[in-house]
Amino acid sequence: MELKVVKASVEKGEGLGWGKSLLVPSIQEILKNDSQSVPERYIQEPKDRPLISQNLFDSLQVPVIDFSMLAQKDANEIRKLDLACKEWGFFQIINHGVREETMVNMKAAMAAFFELPFQEKSKCAKAANEIQGYGQNFVVSEKQKLDWCDMMFLKTFPHETRNFKYWPLTLPGFKEAVEEYSTEIRKVSNKIDANLSVLMGMDENGLKRKLGEFQQGIRMNYYPTCSRPDLVLGISPHSDGSLFTLLLQDDEINGLQIKHKKVWIDAKPIRNSLVVNIGDAIEILSNGMYKSIEHRAISNEKKPRMSIATFVMPGDEVQIGPLDSMVNGKHLPRSYRNIKYIDYIRQKFAMKMQGKVHTAIVKL
Ligand code: OGA
Ligand code: NI
Repeated sequence: MELKVVKASVEKGEGLGWGKSLLVPSIQEILKNDSQSVPERYIQEPKDRPLISQNLFDSLQVPVIDFSMLAQKDANEIRKLDLACKEWGFFQIINHGVREETMVNMKAAMAAFFELPFQEKSKCAKAANEIQGYGQNFVVSEKQKLDWCDMMFLKTFPHETRNFKYWPLTLPGFKEAVEEYSTEIRKVSNKIDANLSVLMGMDENGLKRKLGEFQQGIRMNYYPTCSRPDLVLGISPHSDGSLFTLLLQDDEINGLQIKHKKVWIDAKPIRNSLVVNIGDAIEILSNGMYKSIEHRAISNEKKPRMSIATFVMPGDEVQIGPLDSMVNGKHLPRSYRNIKYIDYIRQKFAMKMQGKVHTAIVKL
């Protein structure tokens, strides 16, 4: 069988970017030829396979934060947010203010892109030495197991980081949907950032002052159905390299799992909510008070699942390291070294997704 590798050229004249990734076949295309196929390269080692039927921890739920209460500076809700960040590294937000229509349009735009013929999608293919575009990232070796997922990554803020070469501009409504969604999500992320600033001992503008204008990137994950979801992973265990991430997931299909106190727990979808997780950069800035938690996605036999992850990140040239307010001599000794954000991101993209290996590198 001919494998359709996502065709891509080499990006010229842009110097060293965030990183690169080996080119891999589209799993969605492989399955168009044979929907039952589970190619060897996707079959995880026994120790890494998900235990699909395990529902022992079904009653445990990722904390839910009512965002409208945070806006009112409700002390109880702020305490809940602090606890969620400390004990879970994950929470779901409701009443976040992003209009339902904006989220529906974004999901529809993504679905329309992944429904395009392969040749059309390939016009947005990643360059071999780039991480933006259609294809897959974090593939660093021919031997590495592959995730049961195709993705599209686009930088969205600041404006000048948008590279429309990777956007399907002829797909009606796509650009408008992404622009509106990314703008709405930025409003939510500004409020999260203000709350985290206060919880980390600064005023509301503390993080902005330290980190400058944030970057935003959107990763659209397309997880096709799989005849053997017990053998594969939709996305391998990893923590995000962002400050924090806002995930818009399917309203009905379970897929996201987070590692909570050593066990994998489903982040069960709540309609119209957003899942927020702490990324590596906040773990470092908070000197480990808030941890970026390992998470993964599993696939299923019944329906393709789509998710849209928006990463909020410091500027490339910003130094990140524990905040003064989070380091306090003997009581809170500094646990991470300083690193320029782009250097952190480059080392992240140079390795496969692999649990918490990345934060370990900057740990003292
Ligand atoms: C990610 C991610 C989870 C999901 O894109 O970083 O963790 O449920 N996605 O798709
Ligand atoms: Ni993630």
